[in-house]
Amino acid sequence: MPPAREVILTGDRPTGPLHLGHYAGSLRSRIALQATHDQTILVADLQALTDNSGRAADVHRNVTEIVLDYLAVGLDPELNTIALQSAMPELSELTMLYLNVVTLARLERNPTVRAEITARGFERDIPAGFLCYPVSQAADITAVRATLVPVGDDQLPMIEQTNAIVRRLNALASRSILPECRPLLSPVPRLPGVDGRKASKSFGNAIPLSASADDIRAAVREMYTDPLHVRVTDPGHVEGNVVFAYLRAFDPDQAAVAELEALYRRGGLGDVTLKNRLADVLESVIAPIRERRARLDRDAVAPILRRGTERARGRAQSVLADVRAAFSLAPV
Ligand code: TRP
Repeated sequence: MPPAREVILTGDRPTGPLHLGHYAGSLRSRIALQATHDQTILVADLQALTDNSGRAADVHRNVTEIVLDYLAVGLDPELNTIALQSAMPELSELTMLYLNVVTLARLERNPTVRAEITARGFERDIPAGFLCYPVSQAADITAVRATLVPVGDDQLPMIEQTNAIVRRLNALASRSILPECRPLLSPVPRLPGVDGRKASKSFGNAIPLSASADDIRAAVREMYTDPLHVRVTDPGHVEGNVVFAYLRAFDPDQAAVAELEALYRRGGLGDVTLKNRLADVLESVIAPIRERRARLDRDAVAPILRRGTERARGRAQSVLADVRAAFSLAPV
């Protein structure tokens, strides 16, 4: 028998269309891993509600869109388990049980949650569900007994929180019922938005995977480069230059990008030439995704989610039985 494939869990909050930042940071590695790993991709609609309870209808609509994005980039529903968080009641029960071994102080210290609280202006009115979402994320990860979690570095506190819960549960059970997990960090740094700020839906500064060729050109034209690089012959900065950040993430000819960087630094390379190259590179990344998306049947999404959710629930039920037993709860 071949050795069991390592179990991966990843997820996204369905709060808006996926963009090039998602593609460079996580979708590309998921596509590479799907052939060799046992990968579950969770559409984290409950987590999305923790900071979007006033936009619940949007979250619901984005569930279908995000699955279409997955299919369009080449994630194969036969190779992956694509599951819907809100259709897995086991996750809510696991979350409720895990909350007993997590302190409020630790939740309040989570640096990612703290940054998000500031970014969303929640200081005075933090939804309790929002403060607890790292525990729900621990439920997501452990529900399939995942050992590998591909994430950006902002998610490292969630992995630590998950492993702290796992150790507490194993101690309660006096045996190893759950495996610890480790992060798989993205090899490329987080992509900035076109204006150089953090890519974010609320800033409207990300390039969606559904962008048209014209949208791409317009976004690239807006990109922040180097305000001190006025004439073509002026020496320019590559650091903080958004065009180079995207070229490093997407240009298939990285040797050429290194040469362009050297030339830009010395002076002699104009922004327009550089941006034309980037627009071509991005069009060649997005065009096949856009074309595949146009051919997709929206009616295919519901059965894919139904099958994936069912498969993931089977695993989650076995985990829940172990966790309930660790808390001396009767089997159901
Ligand atoms: N927190 C992740 C994000 O904001 C989404 C997510 C939910 C997730 N559950 C997860 C990621 C489990 C990794 C593992 O993008």
